[in-house]
Parts: sequence; C-alpha cells; structure tokens
Amino acid sequence: MDYVIGIDLGTSGVKCLLVDENGVILGSESCRYTPEFGSNGYVEQEPSVWWENTKEAVKKLLNKFPEAKNNVKALSCSGQMHSSVFLDNDGNVIRKAILWNDTRTTKQVNEIYEKTGGLDKLLKMSYNKALEGFTLPKILWLRENEEDNYKKVNKVIMPKDYINYMLTGKIATEVSDAAGTLLFDVKNKVWSKELADILNIDISILPEVLNSTDVVGTVKDEMSNELCLKKDAVVIAGGADNSCAAVGNGVLKKGQAVVSIGTSGTVVAYLDDISAEVTGDIHLFNYSIVNSLYAMGCMLCAGESLNWFKRTFAEDKSFEDLNVFAEKSPAGSKGVVFLPYLFGERCPYSNSDARGVFFGISGETGFGEMVRAVMEGVAFGIRDLFELVNNFTDVKEVFITGGGAKSDVWGQIISDVLDRELNILNVEEGPSFGAAVIALVGAKIVGSFEEAMNKSVKIIKTVKPGNNKNIYCEFAKVYKALYEANKDNFKLLQEKLRR
Ligand code: XUL
Repeated sequence: MDYVIGIDLGTSGVKCLLVDENGVILGSESCRYTPEFGSNGYVEQEPSVWWENTKEAVKKLLNKFPEAKNNVKALSCSGQMHSSVFLDNDGNVIRKAILWNDTRTTKQVNEIYEKTGGLDKLLKMSYNKALEGFTLPKILWLRENEEDNYKKVNKVIMPKDYINYMLTGKIATEVSDAAGTLLFDVKNKVWSKELADILNIDISILPEVLNSTDVVGTVKDEMSNELCLKKDAVVIAGGADNSCAAVGNGVLKKGQAVVSIGTSGTVVAYLDDISAEVTGDIHLFNYSIVNSLYAMGCMLCAGESLNWFKRTFAEDKSFEDLNVFAEKSPAGSKGVVFLPYLFGERCPYSNSDARGVFFGISGETGFGEMVRAVMEGVAFGIRDLFELVNNFTDVKEVFITGGGAKSDVWGQIISDVLDRELNILNVEEGPSFGAAVIALVGAKIVGSFEEAMNKSVKIIKTVKPGNNKNIYCEFAKVYKALYEANKDNFKLLQEKLRR
C-alpha cells in the first residue's frame, strides 16, 4: 500500500494527515504554535518554528501508523497565503516571516496605487486589489524599512514553499500562492514584469512557478531517514490554504462552490476563466487544478462572531445551548439585525474602519433573538460574498463546511438566506485533505482529482432552503442598507479613537 501525507501549515498550528492510495483518511497529528504579535499590527513568525513543528507532526503521525513508515510516497503542503519568507543567496532565512494578518503596510498599499495609476490599472495587471496582508506590500516595506535585509534578498517564497524547500532543497512556488503575492498576472499565469518594473522590483527575487500538482523534488536522503519516508518520496508543490480547502471540500469543476464558516467566512467557486468585469471586490486566484482559477470572497469575522458573542454574553452556555436558543427564535430575530464587521471587513467592502452593529433591539428582544441575529448576520455576509462570486460563474452546486455546517440551525439559516441547497461531505479536513489529494494526483497514484475524491468522499447530508427564504430576502436589504447608512459613522468613530 502507498501512502501520502497532506500537510496544512496554518497560522497557529500545523496538521499532518495520512491518506492511503484509496483516498481514505487514516489519521492526523497536529502541533500548535503561536505567531509573534507585536505592536503596530506586526505579526511575524520564525520559519524554523513551522519546519520543526512540521517534522514533529510527521514523526508523531508515522509513529501512530507504523504500517505507513517508509511507505509514504508523496507529501504535499497547504499553507497560509501571502506570508513572506525572505531567503538570501545561500538559501538562509534573512528575518522572521511577515504574516498575512500583519497590517503594517498601509503606506506601501497606497504607494502601489499611486505608482500603478490606481485600482483599474492595478486590476489589469494582477486581477486583485492591493491589501495590507498580501506579499507585495511586505516586499516594499522591507525595502523601505530594513534596507540591509532587503539587499540580501535572493528569493521571496511563501510558508509552504519553505517546507518544500527544507524537504527537497529546491526553491519554487506554485500558481495558487504566486497569485496571492499580487505580483502575479493571474490571467496569464506568469509574474507580472510590468508591475515589478513599475515598482522597481527585481523579478529574479520571485521563484519559479509550478502547477500545484507538479513535483518540486525528491525528499533529501537525510530527511527521508529522519522522517521515515519512502526513499525517493516526492514533494508535490501543493497550494494556498484556500485553494487546497476548496479541493478538499469537493470543488472540482465549473458550477461548484464551497461556503466555509471558520473564524473567517469564505465562499470559493471554481472558474475556468475570468469572464465578468474585475472590480477587486473579491479575490481572483489561480486554482490547484491545472489551468483553472477560483473566485473567493472572504469575510473576516464569521464563526468568530458567535465565539465573541458566547465569550462576552454567554460564557456559562455551550454552543449547543446557543443553537437551541436560536432554533426557538423566529426568522428575522424579531427585527434585530447584526452586522458582523468586528474586525473591519475585507469583502465586499474592504473597510478596516467598519465595526459590529446590533440594530433594531426592542422591548421584546430576548437572548435567543440576539443569538439568532448573530447567525443571520453572518449568513447575510456570506450572501454578499455569494452574489459577488456568482457574477463570475453560475454556481449550481454548493458545499458547506466549518462551524456553520455543524450547527443544524445555522446551516438552515445559511441555506434559507442563500436560497440554495447546501451539501455536507463526510470529510472535514479541508486544506490538509486537499493537499493529500494534490499529492495523490501529483505523484500519479491516482489519475485525476475526481478519481481521488470519488474513491472515499461522499455527500452525507443536504440542507434545503425552507419558507424563511422570503423573510430573509427582505432582511438582506436592511442588512445592506445598514452598512451604507453607517459607513461614514464607522470612519468618524475610528478617527476619534485614533486621536
Ligand atoms: C486568504 C488569507 C487567509 C490566509 C490564512 O487571502 O489571507 O485565508 O490564507 O489562512
């Protein structure tokens, strides 16, 4: 029996999943770590922390499944996107990586717009808006603030590329992570020389770009010995976490999309090309399935809205209790509408000043209505993302994963608000499973993504929209109007707070 390992290199931990040649998940092991949160929005991490923890997790996993020892034929990584690892001429790390959720680069984002001539021009080159978290502003920040370090930069890669490099000695990235740098011409699948030239960035610091299923290289001998991998095991390029998660959640062809309710909320849909007008309101990135793309809308505070509510108002209650309260409350929460912009918002508004709102509280509002309003507010946010994604492709089949899929009442609310059937799969491992599928395909253990998924993945439940969809259609208008009505007030409030 051949095995593969799918690795999910996240922000707060790494998870390694063992999958056999039939696509069956045998088990997983994780190691936790904490990024270093500094002042001024700094979030950094030593790449060696990722590497040591990845090795540890692989070792723990194979100790648990001795039959797989020395039989792992391929590994592949899903990784947090955008975070920058700077390497020198000898391949050594120059400084800590600057992570995707670091917000120090507002000045550089403005500079990108100034130098490129504005949003429309930037969109023509990179198909995406400039965001603080993306890699390009971090490169500019390094040049402006740490000149000596910048002079040493030979290559800039992303976190999972660093793991691939440590395993094989080869420096490369692949399309889905290249797309998240902002320096990639997403439509033509090449680095944007035009954008690099405008910003005076030497394009040679950008690594070779592979497809997700390409082989980066063979695992170094000392690594196959240390980690008990098969001699000549290969490392497959892997992908950005959102790309791998979509693969692992069944998005394999045109018309399919996945809704994910984790800390943040995302809607990701398969695209075979970019057909609608590119406005930058959602991300357009290259996908892990060769020659395809995905449209992704991302709201910053989805599952975290309910976590915050529970932490703040209902510490004595369980999530199960909250589900019961929400279930017993009527659709529309007796007029309470919640805006889930607790951390500002990324899509559709890209507004770091936006904040959470409870609107419409009355004398008859009870605890249940407040809980339900939070779930409904998140669902309205997902609806906004869905509409944007749907502009690019006619979404016909939707999967749901994460917290929203686990709670029956929340899943039903989302189905009603979207007026869509939502399919739940028997796998919950999203990104690490997607990485394992990429490894199976890349190492030619299976012939295609469909084959890998069809072997072991099935729909276990379908949530169907019910009568509440009509009420929600009306409430969605109020939800949108509330943001518009408060946009200036959000700004005013944050200006006062900054003073
Ligand atoms: C995507 C994004 C995050 C990171 C971390 O654009 O910023 O989802 O990939 O997981």
